[in-house]
Amino acid sequence: MAALIGRDLLGLADLSPTELQEVLQLATQLKSKQLKLRCNKVLGLLFSKASTRTRVSFTVAMYQLGGQVIDLNPNVTQVSRGEPVQDTARVLERYLDILAIRTFAQQELESFAHYAKIPVINALTDLEHPCQILADLLTVQECFGNLAGLTLTYVGDGNNVANSLMLGCALVGMNVRIATPNGYEPDSGIVEQARAIAGNKTEVLLTHDPELAAKGSNVLYTDVWASMGQETEADDRLPIFQPYQISEQLLTLADPEAIVLHCLPAHRGEEITEAVIEGSRSRVWEQAENRLHAQKALLVSILGTD
Ligand code: CP
Ligand code: NVA
Repeated sequence: MAALIGRDLLGLADLSPTELQEVLQLATQLKSKQLKLRCNKVLGLLFSKASTRTRVSFTVAMYQLGGQVIDLNPNVTQVSRGEPVQDTARVLERYLDILAIRTFAQQELESFAHYAKIPVINALTDLEHPCQILADLLTVQECFGNLAGLTLTYVGDGNNVANSLMLGCALVGMNVRIATPNGYEPDSGIVEQARAIAGNKTEVLLTHDPELAAKGSNVLYTDVWASMGQETEADDRLPIFQPYQISEQLLTLADPEAIVLHCLPAHRGEEITEAVIEGSRSRVWEQAENRLHAQKALLVSILGTD
């Protein structure tokens, strides 16, 4: 795992297939094994959007590893008063050992990584949510015992989660199908990147037909129809996205052993029904717990241990 020491994670494809598998393997070990970081390390959380899971799981992961966390809420720092990224980044690198950023533009994250010499982790941007997908793949691996050859179907908005899922599935040899309404497809650059990683080994399918996408699939996955920053579009999106709900009916088309995932927070009655999220095929709580284990493995891989 020495290969990840000191590295950034700005997008999921910053990891090679082997590095991704190693993070998942370490995450599995960390579920039952205590590990401490090399010395007292400090993680900064610079989040410009709301967060429950990512904020708390990163914080608890650092505490359990013997490190510390500073919550750099932009409202209580000079960031909200317009201090430029290049200045903030070059100051924070002198105090912190690692920085996790949640923001809107991927470009802003990349600027931080450019100006700060410490490792920078993408804790969600409009383009990607790589830490989420580490936990998702860990959950799928725990449920099925393997990843390669499985098929994951994402139904809903072609957003940050969909983008990172395409990359994650391609990296681990899973087929991925993304079913969105017309005009809400995932990022075309990431589709191309995922297809290049998948080569001719696995499928990266885009469709507007949720039933076709769900057929025989091992994993059904969804996320909110309007992401953070798109609140004003939420009402207009409701009728457009209604056919893209994960319901018991859609679930009957999937493999009988299929599991259902949702990165959370969920809107019951919109992208997923109450019956499905609370039903026997749902693994969303295990998935949420795995945020802690996966991010702990990521932190250990980047910061090193005793
Ligand atoms: N899934 C996820 O990232 O949740 P939060 O927005 O609560 O961090
Ligand atoms: N796509 C959602 C994910 C939340 C974890 C958003 O960006 O708001």
